[in-house]
Amino acid sequence: MISDLTIRLETSADYREVEYITREAFWNHHVPGCDEHYLAHVLRKSSCFIHELDFVAVQQGRIVGNIMYTHARIVGDDGVEYPVISFGPVSVLPEWQGNGVGSALILRSLSEARKLGYTAVLIYGDPAYYSRLGFVAAETYGIGSSDDYFADALQALELKKGSLNGKQGRFFEDHAYEVDEKASAAFDRSFPPKKKQEGLLSQLKFLEHVSARKPRK
Ligand SMILES: CC(C)(COP(=O)(O)OP(=O)(O)OC[C@H]1O[C@@H](n2cnc3c(N)ncnc32)[C@H](O)[C@@H]1OP(=O)(O)O)[C@@H](O)C(=O)NCCC(=O)NCCS
Repeated sequence: MISDLTIRLETSADYREVEYITREAFWNHHVPGCDEHYLAHVLRKSSCFIHELDFVAVQQGRIVGNIMYTHARIVGDDGVEYPVISFGPVSVLPEWQGNGVGSALILRSLSEARKLGYTAVLIYGDPAYYSRLGFVAAETYGIGSSDDYFADALQALELKKGSLNGKQGRFFEDHAYEVDEKASAAFDRSFPPKKKQEGLLSQLKFLEHVSARKPRK
């Protein structure tokens, strides 16, 4: 565990460095290459982006991690739309992973989100990691994916107790998460070349997670 880690809001001077660490963290992790650094680049300009929850983790003057949040919604089975928030990408430089930076970023931003009055967070992620931070399967609240599946990877956390009760329905992330592959590839070329690899264990695990789904009804 790092003792002198600082967590502060991202500034425009940090943008490129954050995109770099996002690329380093995600490269070949879920799929060969990655789009998350491009996502970080475009999300900030999107109306769904929550600037007050855009945090960086700084260690010895260097940014080693980042978390970004967006507005999202549950479309309830009762036809009502319920606002929630979501996060991602969350990234820690590979050489700093496993030292509590990711947990510190997530816990600090969740606490700020609670103070700002947000009531619930829904994310797609590895249940083995997020359950350690208090997340439960969204299925617990009857909440499924936008295409109506209960997905193991869809995790929920109430920031206000009881806020997800009676809100069964489908979770929708903002359209800003739909990546334009060509634009992403062009953006990636502005960084030093990096080799894409297939068949890595983390990629197989990711595939396993995203395919763990069952129809909601
Ligand atoms: C996921 C990530 C943000 C976590 O940050 P971190 O600083 O490494 O995490 P922490 O140090 O707080 O926690 C590390 C612990 O979580 C575990 N962990 C990390 N990722 C995990 C995962 N996907 N599944 C299960 N456990 C995981 C580690 O094994 C470690 O366990 P230990 O404490 O028993 O040794 C970081 O590893 C990362 O950037 N990964 C690549 C990008 C990514 O996957 N982002 C999240 C997408 S949903």
